[in-house]
Amino acid sequence: MVRERQKASKTYVNRSLLAYINPHGSISEQYRTIRNNIHYASNGSKIQSLLVTSPSEGEGKSTTTVNLAVCMAQRGDRVLIIDANFRNPIINKIFQVQTSPGLSNVLGQQLEIREAIYNTEVEGLDILPSGQRLYNSTELLDSQLMIDVMQYASEQYDMVLLDCPPVLGVPDTNALVGKCDGVLLLLQSGKTQQEQAIEAKRALMFAKANILGVILNQKSV
Ligand SMILES: Nc1ncnc2c1ncn2[C@@H]1O[C@H](COP(=O)(O)OP(=O)(O)O)[C@@H](O)[C@H]1O
Ligand SMILES: [Mg+2]
Repeated sequence: MVRERQKASKTYVNRSLLAYINPHGSISEQYRTIRNNIHYASNGSKIQSLLVTSPSEGEGKSTTTVNLAVCMAQRGDRVLIIDANFRNPIINKIFQVQTSPGLSNVLGQQLEIREAIYNTEVEGLDILPSGQRLYNSTELLDSQLMIDVMQYASEQYDMVLLDCPPVLGVPDTNALVGKCDGVLLLLQSGKTQQEQAIEAKRALMFAKANILGVILNQKSV
Protein backbone atom coordinates (compact mmCIF):
# COMPACT_ATOMS: atom_id res chain seq x y z
CA MET A 1 0.00 0.00 0.00
CA VAL A 2 1.01 3.57 -0.53
CA ARG A 3 2.22 5.19 2.63
CA GLU A 4 0.67 8.54 3.41
CA ARG A 5 3.80 10.56 3.96
CA GLN A 6 2.34 14.00 3.77
CA LYS A 7 -1.05 15.29 2.80
CA ALA A 8 -1.11 18.30 0.52
CA SER A 9 -2.67 21.31 2.16
CA LYS A 10 -6.45 21.28 2.30
CA THR A 11 -6.67 25.00 2.78
CA TYR A 12 -5.07 26.05 -0.50
CA VAL A 13 -6.09 24.80 -3.88
CA ASN A 14 -3.89 25.71 -6.83
CA ARG A 15 -5.88 27.49 -9.52
CA SER A 16 -4.44 25.14 -12.15
CA LEU A 17 -6.70 22.42 -10.76
CA LEU A 18 -9.83 23.73 -12.47
CA ALA A 19 -11.39 20.27 -12.72
CA TYR A 20 -11.23 20.13 -8.92
CA ILE A 21 -12.18 23.72 -8.11
CA ASN A 22 -15.04 23.92 -10.56
CA PRO A 23 -16.02 20.41 -11.62
CA HIS A 24 -19.26 21.59 -13.26
CA GLY A 25 -17.69 24.31 -15.42
CA SER A 26 -17.35 24.05 -19.20
CA ILE A 27 -13.55 23.61 -19.03
CA SER A 28 -13.91 20.65 -16.67
CA GLU A 29 -16.47 19.23 -19.07
CA GLN A 30 -13.86 19.38 -21.85
CA TYR A 31 -11.29 17.59 -19.71
CA ARG A 32 -13.88 14.88 -19.05
CA THR A 33 -14.50 14.61 -22.80
CA ILE A 34 -10.76 14.08 -23.34
CA ARG A 35 -10.75 11.49 -20.55
CA ASN A 36 -13.58 9.61 -22.24
CA ASN A 37 -12.01 9.93 -25.69
CA ILE A 38 -8.81 8.33 -24.37
CA HIS A 39 -10.93 5.34 -23.51
CA TYR A 40 -12.48 5.21 -27.01
CA ALA A 41 -9.12 5.82 -28.72
CA SER A 42 -7.64 2.79 -27.03
CA ASN A 43 -9.64 0.56 -29.38
CA GLY A 44 -10.32 -2.05 -26.76
CA SER A 45 -6.74 -2.44 -25.54
CA LYS A 46 -6.07 -1.61 -21.93
CA ILE A 47 -4.54 1.82 -21.41
CA GLN A 48 -3.10 2.03 -17.93
CA SER A 49 -0.22 4.43 -18.45
CA LEU A 50 -0.22 7.66 -20.43
CA LEU A 51 2.62 9.97 -21.35
CA VAL A 52 1.81 13.63 -21.92
CA THR A 53 4.19 15.71 -24.00
CA SER A 54 4.33 18.59 -26.46
CA PRO A 55 6.92 20.07 -28.82
CA SER A 56 8.19 22.76 -26.43
CA GLU A 57 7.86 24.31 -22.96
CA GLY A 58 4.85 26.20 -21.69
CA GLU A 59 2.23 24.71 -23.96
CA GLY A 60 0.12 23.29 -21.14
CA LYS A 61 1.35 19.73 -20.60
CA SER A 62 1.35 19.86 -16.80
CA THR A 63 -1.95 21.73 -16.59
CA THR A 64 -3.58 19.16 -18.84
CA THR A 65 -2.01 16.24 -16.96
CA VAL A 66 -3.28 17.35 -13.55
CA ASN A 67 -6.78 18.13 -14.76
CA LEU A 68 -7.10 14.86 -16.64
CA ALA A 69 -5.86 13.07 -13.55
CA VAL A 70 -8.48 14.81 -11.40
CA CYS A 71 -11.23 13.80 -13.86
CA MET A 72 -10.03 10.20 -13.81
CA ALA A 73 -9.95 10.17 -10.01
CA GLN A 74 -13.44 11.69 -9.93
CA ARG A 75 -14.62 8.70 -11.96
CA GLY A 76 -13.35 6.46 -9.17
CA ASP A 77 -10.00 5.45 -10.63
CA ARG A 78 -6.86 5.28 -8.49
CA VAL A 79 -4.51 7.62 -10.31
CA LEU A 80 -0.80 8.39 -9.99
CA ILE A 81 0.92 11.36 -11.61
CA ILE A 82 4.67 10.92 -12.07
CA ASP A 83 6.58 14.15 -12.63
CA ALA A 84 9.18 13.08 -15.18
CA ASN A 85 10.27 16.62 -16.01
CA PHE A 86 13.50 17.07 -14.06
CA ARG A 87 14.30 20.30 -15.85
CA ASN A 88 11.06 22.05 -15.03
CA PRO A 89 9.18 20.14 -12.32
CA ILE A 90 5.80 21.60 -11.49
CA ILE A 91 3.56 18.83 -10.13
CA ASN A 92 4.96 19.31 -6.61
CA LYS A 93 4.22 23.04 -6.81
CA ILE A 94 0.64 22.48 -7.91
CA PHE A 95 0.08 20.16 -4.93
CA GLN A 96 2.32 22.12 -2.56
CA VAL A 97 4.89 19.52 -1.62
CA GLN A 98 8.68 19.44 -1.92
CA THR A 99 10.34 18.57 -5.22
CA SER A 100 12.48 16.03 -3.43
CA PRO A 101 12.45 13.16 -2.60
CA GLY A 102 10.90 11.90 -5.75
CA LEU A 103 11.48 9.92 -8.92
CA SER A 104 15.19 10.75 -9.15
CA ASN A 105 15.76 9.39 -5.63
CA VAL A 106 13.89 6.22 -6.50
CA LEU A 107 15.97 5.80 -9.66
CA GLY A 108 19.08 6.56 -7.60
CA GLN A 109 18.01 3.71 -5.28
CA GLN A 110 17.97 6.00 -2.26
CA LEU A 111 14.45 5.01 -1.29
CA GLU A 112 11.51 2.85 -2.30
CA ILE A 113 8.91 4.29 -4.65
CA ARG A 114 6.15 3.92 -2.03
CA GLU A 115 8.17 6.17 0.27
CA ALA A 116 8.26 8.96 -2.31
CA ILE A 117 4.56 9.00 -3.20
CA TYR A 118 2.25 11.64 -1.74
CA ASN A 119 -1.46 11.38 -1.28
CA THR A 120 -3.24 14.57 -2.35
CA GLU A 121 -6.43 16.20 -1.23
CA VAL A 122 -8.08 14.88 -4.39
CA GLU A 123 -9.59 11.55 -3.44
CA GLY A 124 -7.87 8.73 -5.36
CA LEU A 125 -5.08 10.91 -6.75
CA ASP A 126 -1.45 10.44 -5.69
CA ILE A 127 1.69 12.09 -6.99
CA LEU A 128 5.35 11.18 -7.34
CA PRO A 129 7.40 14.42 -7.53
CA SER A 130 10.46 14.59 -9.76
CA GLY A 131 13.14 14.71 -7.07
CA GLN A 132 16.22 16.80 -7.67
CA ARG A 133 17.56 17.35 -11.16
CA LEU A 134 19.68 14.57 -12.60
CA TYR A 135 22.48 15.01 -15.06
CA ASN A 136 22.19 11.45 -16.32
CA SER A 137 18.40 11.56 -16.40
CA THR A 138 18.02 10.02 -19.85
CA GLU A 139 20.07 6.97 -18.89
CA LEU A 140 18.09 6.49 -15.68
CA LEU A 141 14.75 6.94 -17.41
CA ASP A 142 15.87 4.40 -19.98
CA SER A 143 16.84 1.86 -17.31
CA GLN A 144 15.38 -1.32 -15.84
CA LEU A 145 14.76 0.70 -12.66
CA MET A 146 12.29 2.89 -14.53
CA ILE A 147 10.58 -0.20 -15.92
CA ASP A 148 10.29 -1.39 -12.30
CA VAL A 149 8.76 1.98 -11.31
CA MET A 150 6.14 1.64 -14.04
CA GLN A 151 5.49 -1.95 -13.07
CA TYR A 152 4.90 -1.00 -9.43
CA ALA A 153 2.69 1.93 -10.45
CA SER A 154 0.59 -0.24 -12.76
CA GLU A 155 0.04 -2.77 -10.00
CA GLN A 156 -1.08 -0.11 -7.52
CA TYR A 157 -3.06 2.26 -9.74
CA ASP A 158 -5.73 2.13 -12.43
CA MET A 159 -4.00 4.90 -14.36
CA VAL A 160 -0.47 6.35 -14.35
CA LEU A 161 0.09 9.72 -16.00
CA LEU A 162 3.63 10.85 -16.86
CA ASP A 163 4.11 14.60 -17.03
CA CYS A 164 7.08 14.84 -19.39
CA PRO A 165 9.47 17.42 -20.80
CA PRO A 166 9.02 18.64 -24.38
CA VAL A 167 9.70 15.92 -26.93
CA LEU A 168 11.90 18.15 -29.09
CA GLY A 169 15.38 18.94 -27.87
CA VAL A 170 15.21 16.78 -24.73
CA PRO A 171 15.89 13.03 -25.06
CA ASP A 172 14.16 12.14 -21.75
CA THR A 173 10.67 11.88 -23.18
CA ASN A 174 11.58 9.40 -25.88
CA ALA A 175 13.26 7.23 -23.24
CA LEU A 176 9.82 6.91 -21.60
CA VAL A 177 7.60 6.48 -24.64
CA GLY A 178 8.10 2.72 -24.84
CA LYS A 179 7.23 2.31 -21.16
CA CYS A 180 3.72 3.74 -21.54
CA ASP A 181 0.61 2.28 -23.14
CA GLY A 182 -0.28 5.52 -24.87
CA VAL A 183 0.94 9.02 -25.66
CA LEU A 184 -0.98 12.29 -25.76
CA LEU A 185 0.59 15.01 -27.88
CA LEU A 186 -0.37 18.46 -26.74
CA LEU A 187 -0.27 21.50 -29.01
CA GLN A 188 -1.05 25.06 -28.06
CA SER A 189 -3.40 27.00 -30.25
CA GLY A 190 -1.69 30.11 -31.62
CA LYS A 191 1.73 29.09 -30.30
CA THR A 192 2.87 25.70 -31.58
CA GLN A 193 4.28 26.05 -35.08
CA GLN A 194 3.09 23.58 -37.69
CA GLU A 195 6.67 22.38 -38.35
CA GLN A 196 7.18 21.76 -34.62
CA ALA A 197 3.98 19.73 -34.44
CA ILE A 198 5.03 17.60 -37.41
CA GLU A 199 8.56 17.19 -36.01
CA ALA A 200 7.18 16.19 -32.59
CA LYS A 201 4.93 13.58 -34.15
CA ARG A 202 7.85 12.27 -36.21
CA ALA A 203 10.06 11.99 -33.12
CA LEU A 204 7.36 10.13 -31.20
CA MET A 205 6.65 7.77 -34.10
CA PHE A 206 10.38 7.07 -34.38
CA ALA A 207 10.33 6.00 -30.73
CA LYS A 208 7.35 3.76 -31.60
CA ALA A 209 4.87 5.75 -29.55
CA ASN A 210 1.26 4.70 -29.49
CA ILE A 211 -0.11 8.20 -30.09
CA LEU A 212 -3.70 8.08 -28.90
CA GLY A 213 -4.48 11.60 -29.98
CA VAL A 214 -3.62 15.27 -30.05
CA ILE A 215 -4.96 17.79 -27.55
CA LEU A 216 -5.27 21.38 -28.67
CA ASN A 217 -4.82 23.60 -25.65
CA GLN A 218 -6.01 27.18 -25.71
CA LYS A 219 -4.93 29.38 -22.86
CA SER A 220 -7.67 31.58 -21.52
CA VAL A 221 -6.61 35.15 -20.74
N1 LIG B 1 -5.82 26.12 -20.91
C1 LIG B 1 -5.16 26.99 -20.15
N2 LIG B 1 -5.77 28.14 -19.72
C2 LIG B 1 -5.08 29.04 -18.98
N3 LIG B 1 -3.80 28.92 -18.59
C3 LIG B 1 -3.15 27.81 -18.99
C4 LIG B 1 -3.77 26.79 -19.77
N4 LIG B 1 -2.88 25.82 -20.02
C5 LIG B 1 -1.74 26.19 -19.41
N5 LIG B 1 -1.90 27.39 -18.79
C6 LIG B 1 -0.86 28.15 -18.05
O1 LIG B 1 0.29 28.26 -18.87
C7 LIG B 1 1.48 28.09 -18.10
C8 LIG B 1 2.28 26.93 -18.66
O2 LIG B 1 1.50 25.74 -18.54
P1 LIG B 1 2.14 24.35 -18.15
O3 LIG B 1 1.00 23.40 -18.02
O4 LIG B 1 3.06 24.48 -16.98
O5 LIG B 1 2.98 24.07 -19.49
P2 LIG B 1 4.07 22.95 -19.80
O6 LIG B 1 3.89 21.86 -18.79
O7 LIG B 1 3.76 22.52 -21.20
O8 LIG B 1 5.41 23.62 -19.72
C9 LIG B 1 1.04 27.88 -16.66
O9 LIG B 1 1.10 29.12 -15.99
C10 LIG B 1 -0.41 27.42 -16.79
O10 LIG B 1 -1.18 27.81 -15.66
MG1 LIG C 1 5.27 21.04 -17.46
